[in-house]
Amino acid sequence: MTPFPSVLESVEDLTVNQIQTLLTLAENIERDKIHLTSQNSLKAPIVYTLFLENSTRTKLSFATSALKLGAHYLDFPLQTSSVKKGENIEETLLTLKAQGADLCIIRTNENNFFKEYKNNPPLKLINGGDGVNEHPTQALLDLYELLKFFQGGIKGISGKTLGIAGDIIHSRVAHSLIKLLPKFGMKICLYAPEYFLPYEITENPNITVAKNKNDFLVSTDLVYLLRIQFERLKNTEEEITKIKDSYSVQFGFFLSDAEKHQRYFMHPGPVNIGLEIDLSLLKSKYYLGHRQVESSIPVRMAILLSMLNNQDQNLNPKGKNAAVINYTTL
Ligand code: CP
Repeated sequence: MTPFPSVLESVEDLTVNQIQTLLTLAENIERDKIHLTSQNSLKAPIVYTLFLENSTRTKLSFATSALKLGAHYLDFPLQTSSVKKGENIEETLLTLKAQGADLCIIRTNENNFFKEYKNNPPLKLINGGDGVNEHPTQALLDLYELLKFFQGGIKGISGKTLGIAGDIIHSRVAHSLIKLLPKFGMKICLYAPEYFLPYEITENPNITVAKNKNDFLVSTDLVYLLRIQFERLKNTEEEITKIKDSYSVQFGFFLSDAEKHQRYFMHPGPVNIGLEIDLSLLKSKYYLGHRQVESSIPVRMAILLSMLNNQDQNLNPKGKNAAVINYTTL
């Protein structure tokens, strides 16, 4: 089997087999079937998060996952670091590497940030969201959640349609899902105002675009909502107010939508209550966002385990033993 990559930039860095193996490992972790064998703390891997954009879920679920695995975990202190004195990220990563760091999860506003590190990374790297490009670990945990929701393994999701609604053009999660889910037989239906629909995505044969909310809900098996990423909009304040005032009428989802069509709603978070989702829907049984967060722990533990244990000799040129996490499957 192809070794797990040392840079996870995109869902396309993993084969279908690797993804299936990864999600089986996540399932074993969730079912308490993985037993960590005793670690010498001096040899435990050192995992960093370096987040240049804000985050609650991704950063803290990687932190939780690293700690649960017995790794040493540190969050890079951006505001008090030498990055604020002008040091670039490459020098920063080389410094972390020299201090013994094994893996770093990075979030950045720079699209395709990881490309330059693909062939020669200073240490193992995971994309925690790069601009509007990709958010591979969110898409992988969403796939795990979809498999749980529909049941029956790959057969259970094959042929099903995931509806994605909202600010698709700025959503790195949507871009990863659109690449990932068709590999497992899923179809995608989009629903968004014209200005949030990326042109190249609507040319994709796995994707349809719904004309109105009713058609969208009828033609999808499960809905994935996205918030408007106001921080990325170039509009004037007046235009943004106009979007805020009118958006929910056509593109917001309510408990009545869920009840009428018996549809469940995923959301990567954070939510903008009153825009893409009404409070009544958020608080109902039809909202799966918190289940996605629960799934993020076993899936991100599985990602960390797979990458830390991939035996990449290029990252240990002096014949030093790589820091690994030993475990047995019960
Ligand atoms: N889903 C997600 O990326 O959430 P955060 O921005 O809180 O990490």
